[in-house]
Amino acid sequence: MSADPTQTAGPQTASPGVAGGQVVVLPVAGLPEIGAGADLAALISDATPDLRDGDILVVTSKIVSKAEGRVMSGDREAFIDAEAVRTVARRGQTRIVTTRHGLVMAAAGVDNSNTAPGTVVLLPVDPDASAARLRAGLEARRGLTVGVIVSDTMGRPWRTGQTDTAIGAAGLTPLRDHRGQADTFGNLLEVTVAAVADEIAAAADLVKGKTTQIPVAIVRGLPEFVTAADGPGAAALIRPAEEDMFRLGTADVLAERRTVREFTTDPVDPAAVRRAIAAALTAPAPHHSEPWRFAVLESAAARTALLDQMLAAWQADLRGDGFTEEQIARRVRRGEPLRRAPLIIVPCLLAEAAHEYPDQRRNAAERAMFAVSMGAAVQNLLVALAIEGLGSCWVSSTLFCQPVAAAALDLPPGWEPMGAVGVGHPAAAARPRPDRDPDRFTVTR
Ligand SMILES: Cc1cc2nc3c(=O)[nH]c(=O)nc-3n(C[C@H](O)[C@H](O)[C@H](O)COP(=O)(O)O)c2cc1C
Repeated sequence: MSADPTQTAGPQTASPGVAGGQVVVLPVAGLPEIGAGADLAALISDATPDLRDGDILVVTSKIVSKAEGRVMSGDREAFIDAEAVRTVARRGQTRIVTTRHGLVMAAAGVDNSNTAPGTVVLLPVDPDASAARLRAGLEARRGLTVGVIVSDTMGRPWRTGQTDTAIGAAGLTPLRDHRGQADTFGNLLEVTVAAVADEIAAAADLVKGKTTQIPVAIVRGLPEFVTAADGPGAAALIRPAEEDMFRLGTADVLAERRTVREFTTDPVDPAAVRRAIAAALTAPAPHHSEPWRFAVLESAAARTALLDQMLAAWQADLRGDGFTEEQIARRVRRGEPLRRAPLIIVPCLLAEAAHEYPDQRRNAAERAMFAVSMGAAVQNLLVALAIEGLGSCWVSSTLFCQPVAAAALDLPPGWEPMGAVGVGHPAAAARPRPDRDPDRFTVTR
């Protein structure tokens, strides 16, 4: 086989009986129940006497898994845990996860249909390699150049119903890139990349079936997609995380926020900050009030002025406590995350809607209500920044010298600084968060 992935199987693939542009999808009947160690290439070869150069064989992953010994006995949930690298979304018992292969699918593809009770079938370890092996086996037996797709059924987040998709492929151009071509009106196509392998897998599913015992189909009439080399496989269909606008599932969103204390020097997009502040403004608040305010320090001069004046106030406090200059120098180093942040947001509380009571107890409760509402707003802010890919570090600093910070920032009357949030692009991944057992934090009455 040639190493050139763009080289097609050539004109010998023009199938008699198939007119130009016509595609036929043929079910492959007569395959036996597949067990571990089965020679799939031999079985499929025997069942497809009419297989031709340029055909594309679509093979349900279930039989590939069975042949590869991926049928397991035991707890389905435990197998899903083992196959998943990330939970994307969860509703009730249903879990959408990213598998080790990078596929996003329900239950990590761990399936208990079409297998003996008490057993589950896991996806092939490397579906592209499975497709390549099957293709090599068919070529060795028959001398034919065919494409092979290993297919599996997936739901789609925005569409009802499932379709089959290519989770493995060999000898096939998986994507047809139309970008840069002109349409019939002369408009340049800018984004169109056809997921050919998925389209073929879905077409094949029309004649295969979970209940009809037809796990293989031949798609004939698309020889232009069949390549001499194995090619990039179905891995090419996995959207890179950085291009994925929906990367975070509902289960990920809250965990995405981590305290980040080291930032790159990349600037922060003011529009992202504005969106995050809009999210902060959805926090609950007492008395139907809107007590949240934000000072956004975009300029280095504003940040330095605030940090220098807070530092002086902190040092004065520590001197008052009797610390030595060396001890003071060590302590104030803790303020450094803010120095390294390319942007600072100072969340402020404007508690003008707080009710006044004649007694201290109720006034304190009133203050606490507004303070917790501010906490909710800041959490929203930090989560929204994380969704934008921005790290943040909410530090106490301004809370301990509110008049100094308010003066340094020339805040409007009544704005009480509630700490400071350093914002920037994280310089490193956060350490894994410790698992916390809700039972340890909960009493149930
Ligand atoms: C009100 C408040 C004040 C904080 N002050 C500081 C601080 O002064 N310096 C700091 O490094 N982190 C500060 N933090 C961040 C915590 O240290 C951080 O939340 C904790 O380490 C847990 O990490 P995580 O946020 O990634 O879950 C503060 C957090 C809160 C809520």
